[in-house]
Amino acid sequence: MNAVKKVRIHHFKEMKERGEKITMLTAYDYPTARAFDAAGVDILLVGDSLGDNMLGYDSTVGVTLDEMIPFARAVSRAAQRAFVVADLPFGTYEVSPEQAVESSIRMMKLSGANAIKFEGGRRIARQVKAVTDAGIPFCGHLGFTPQSENALGGHRVQGRGEQGVQDLIDDALALQEAGAFAVVLEMVVASAADAVTAALDIPTIGIGAGSGTDGQVLVWLDMAGVGDWHPRFSKQFGAVGQAMTDAATAYVADVKDVAFPGPEHTFST
Ligand code: KIV
Repeated sequence: MNAVKKVRIHHFKEMKERGEKITMLTAYDYPTARAFDAAGVDILLVGDSLGDNMLGYDSTVGVTLDEMIPFARAVSRAAQRAFVVADLPFGTYEVSPEQAVESSIRMMKLSGANAIKFEGGRRIARQVKAVTDAGIPFCGHLGFTPQSENALGGHRVQGRGEQGVQDLIDDALALQEAGAFAVVLEMVVASAADAVTAALDIPTIGIGAGSGTDGQVLVWLDMAGVGDWHPRFSKQFGAVGQAMTDAATAYVADVKDVAFPGPEHTFST
C-alpha cells in the first residue's frame, strides 16, 4: 500500500516559489474532512466560522476554545494528507503573548492540529512571535477580520486607498517577521492583495481577494452549495444542500410507504 505523502509546513513556501496555487477549505467534522482530504485539498481550516456555519450563531464572536477543540480533533483525525490549521477564537489570544501561547498549546495538544491561526497584524505581532517561538506553526489573517466586525463596522472590503494598502503590507510584514508561515487575506481589493503577495516571501491565501494570491480558501458550505448565504466572492461548485434535502425527502417517502426497509435490509432469522 502506498503511504500518503503528508503536506508539511515547508511545502507552502515551495509552492509559492514554483507558482503552484495552495488550496484551503474549511472543515469542521470527520466525514467532511475525509472527503476534502481525499480530494487533494492542501489545508483544512477548522475556522471559527464554525460558529455561524455549524452552531447557528449570528457571528464568530461568541465561539469559545472549548467549542472549537472537539471539531478540530475530528478534522485532525480525518486528515491523512492535508495540513490542519485551527483558529483561536475571539478572546483567547488578544490579552498577552502568554495568553496566546497557552491557548495555542491547549488547542495543539487536545486537537492534534498542525498549526494555529488568529486574526490581526502589528497589534498582535508579539503574540505571534511568542507562539512561533514556542514551536507552533502560525498562519495570519488580515483584511476583513470577522472577529473585529463590530470595530470594522460590518463586512467591509479592506485595502482601499494608498494608506489602506500600506497598512496591509505593514501588517503582513510584521506577521512574516514574527514567524508566520502564511497569511489569509479576506475581502481585500485585488490590487492590494497583489501588492501584499509581492511584498512577502511567505504565501498569501485569499478569500475575496482576487486571483493573484498564492492560494485560495472558501468556507466549504458556500463552496458546496449548503445554506442560504451566497457571498459574491464565493463560487458554488456543487448543490450539496439540495442533494441532502432530496435524499431525506426520498427516505421520508419510502418509510411512509413501507418501501424501506425491504427484505434486503432485514434480518429474518
Ligand atoms: O473561520 C474561517 O472560516 C476563516 C476563513 C474565512 C478564512 O477564517
